[in-house]
Amino acid sequence: MQAIAVSRDSEGPICIEKPRPEPEPGEALIQTLRVGIDGTDHEIINGSYGEYPDGEDHLVLGHEAVGMVEDPGTTNLERGDIVTPTVRRSPNGDSVYFDRGEPDMAPEGSYHERGIIGSHGYFSEFFTSQAHHLASIPSSLAQVGFLVEPLSVVHKAIELATSSRSSFTWEPTAALVLGNGSLGLLMLAHLTTTDTYKRCYCLGRRDRPDPTIDIIERLGATYIDSRETPVDMIPSAYESMDFICEATGYAPHAFKTVDALAPNGVGALLGVPDSLNFEIDGGALHNELVLHNKALIGSVNSNMSHFETATEDLRTFPDWFIDSLITDVYPLSKFMHAFDDDDDTTIKTAVQLSAYEERWWSHRKCGWTSQTRAVEGWNRGWIERLARNG
Ligand code: NAP
Ligand code: BGC
Ligand code: ZN
Repeated sequence: MQAIAVSRDSEGPICIEKPRPEPEPGEALIQTLRVGIDGTDHEIINGSYGEYPDGEDHLVLGHEAVGMVEDPGTTNLERGDIVTPTVRRSPNGDSVYFDRGEPDMAPEGSYHERGIIGSHGYFSEFFTSQAHHLASIPSSLAQVGFLVEPLSVVHKAIELATSSRSSFTWEPTAALVLGNGSLGLLMLAHLTTTDTYKRCYCLGRRDRPDPTIDIIERLGATYIDSRETPVDMIPSAYESMDFICEATGYAPHAFKTVDALAPNGVGALLGVPDSLNFEIDGGALHNELVLHNKALIGSVNSNMSHFETATEDLRTFPDWFIDSLITDVYPLSKFMHAFDDDDDTTIKTAVQLSAYEERWWSHRKCGWTSQTRAVEGWNRGWIERLARNG
């Protein structure tokens, strides 16, 4: 089977041949439908992040995947089920964090991340996984289920941040997302489609016209240009924020977040920056956090509970949002295009390893008609998009 990997001997992602994996007891064999690409994949490709599996010369990429059960093995899954895999695995099978269902809280060194750290990912025609690391999702999400993983990261961050405000009556109304990449836009879609926040903002550094600014405004949020309004000036130019999510990977934003927060507010940091030296007034920062009961939390990864809530959330996102966010889906033969990120019209790309449509028709014949309308809606867009790229 074909797989997309980075290797010690070549630059950039390459297509390699690997044997199709055999499921071990407790594992299912999954036929990969689509794999999404995010900022982390780009960091792995440029060599600033990630780890090869021990003793191997390559790492199969891909941590945002959706697939169909091909062989359920000894698991309770059924052939044809649509699933999306979680990312973290315990290298030696012995971890309290994994036993508690909280692999996302495991300390560095005590986990692998498939497609990122020490373990092959899902960017291959087939992969195997233990069933308890596979979230079952409705077949209406078969085309876009690779968004469940990044959206689960959003859900975990919000859970951590809001639980830090749970000891008092917190009534947030204004939220700000720093970063208009795919993670930032998923966070913004979540914030604007729930009732909690009355006013939402999103910060970027793009000139109009720009497709991400169009999405921000169509979601009902206000675009803030960081070149005109630096993060610490946002309270005077707009308002102080009860919740801020940093999704830029730009370290100075992490600290400026504290100045942009309202009293009792919380900032969630998601970016994974490179080392960067810069000056900050540590005394003022410390003072601001303490005297205004502000909190700054870091959040990484997610667990099965976040996959479940993210799946429900994804179903409520408007079609136009998903359609504008996923700018291109490429066939495996053109996988390289999915990694091009040097033009401002690309937001989120994915590669299709196997088509869902044919199987869907056969399922429909078996009577799975309740999903019909949703799947038809998605399919129309995807078939057109693949035809353009194929
Ligand atoms: P991305 O597509 O690269 O998005 C980053 C966005 O931030 C881009 O739109 C970029 O704008 C914008 N940006 C960067 N610096 C900026 C600045 N100084 N002012 C204004 N905007 C700025 O990456 P992503 O996939 O959305 O991920 C975002 C970050 O989260 C990355 O660091 C990634 O590693 C991290 N991440 C963390 C987790 C976790 O579990 N914590 C999960 C997924 C991703 P331009 O496009 O205009 O340059
Ligand atoms: C992934 C997370 C992972 C994080 C750090 C992100 O891109 O979505 O699952 O924990 O990178 O490696
Ligand atoms: Zn990711």
